[in-house]
Amino acid sequence: MFGKKHDHMAKTNVPPAMEANEAARIAFEHDLPLSKHHFVEGEHPVVRIEHLMKTFDGETQVLRDVNLNVWNGEIVVVLGPSGSGKSTMLRCINLLETPTAGHILIDDEEITGKSAKEVGIIRRDLGMVFQQFNLFPHLTAKENVMIGQTKVLKKSKEEAEAEAIKQLEAVGLGDRVDYKPPQLSGGQQQRVAIARAVAMHPKVLLFDEPTSALDPELVRDVLGVMRELALHGDMTMIVVTHEMGFARDVGDRVVFMEGGVVVEQGLPEEVFDNPQHERTKQFLGSIK
Ligand SMILES: Nc1ncnc2c1ncn2[C@@H]1O[C@H](COP(=O)(O)OP(=O)(O)O)[C@@H](O)[C@H]1O
Ligand SMILES: [Mg+2]
Repeated sequence: MFGKKHDHMAKTNVPPAMEANEAARIAFEHDLPLSKHHFVEGEHPVVRIEHLMKTFDGETQVLRDVNLNVWNGEIVVVLGPSGSGKSTMLRCINLLETPTAGHILIDDEEITGKSAKEVGIIRRDLGMVFQQFNLFPHLTAKENVMIGQTKVLKKSKEEAEAEAIKQLEAVGLGDRVDYKPPQLSGGQQQRVAIARAVAMHPKVLLFDEPTSALDPELVRDVLGVMRELALHGDMTMIVVTHEMGFARDVGDRVVFMEGGVVVEQGLPEEVFDNPQHERTKQFLGSIK
């Protein structure tokens, strides 16, 4: 404990996680003017991030002090230049990375500092859609959507199959359920990945640049599916993307990250049309 050579310096400076009601009250007051989410007095955020820090190899500090709350049904779009820590933040939220310090709470339950077994259970609540789809190439679309349901949720094959077909139909792939990933376009593969994530009925869906690996003509279909989910599902989504049209139209709140911190956040039209911070202005200016 004392004088250990590779001890992470950040750990000691982070206060314990806030008490749930107090945290919810502060988060409510903070986020109310910043989001289109329909706030209900007394509700608690589904995701609460306090003083999150992530350091790689004991020196590269990638997340410095991230504080963010996400509300049930809210669509939060995260923008920021490459290397700002967006993926690392998402990967910390579903514990693909172990935070160096700080707190992440899902429904007021701390998920940081859990055992491997507990991590498996927690991860069920957090769906993830990756840039590179991450489908099993030797399984059909339907089997890809079934496998988490049967292996992780222990659903019967029949139940999982019915859910898989339903979710594949919802993303417009009802006629492709028996195709394997190599027989599908990138856009179709990503839609399978979305169906797979939704079929697990997670509390929160995380998207890490879901359209960045796609040819431009395929981007629209994937964004359409995401838009549909956001507007007509009751999904909570955290979406890292460079698709500004999507951010503006679909986002309840836009969060701008740089250098491992949230620099600015607010209503999409506010952040886009009236950014407060120089770095946000520069970033938005560079991508227009
Ligand atoms: N596993 C890792 N080991 C060391 N450095 C990493 C690792 N993962 C990410 N990084 C570094 O963290 C920084 C932020 O990365 P990332 O979260 O992927 O940013 P973004 O998604 O915003 O582009 C980058 O400088 C990257 O090189
Ligand atoms: Mg990234």
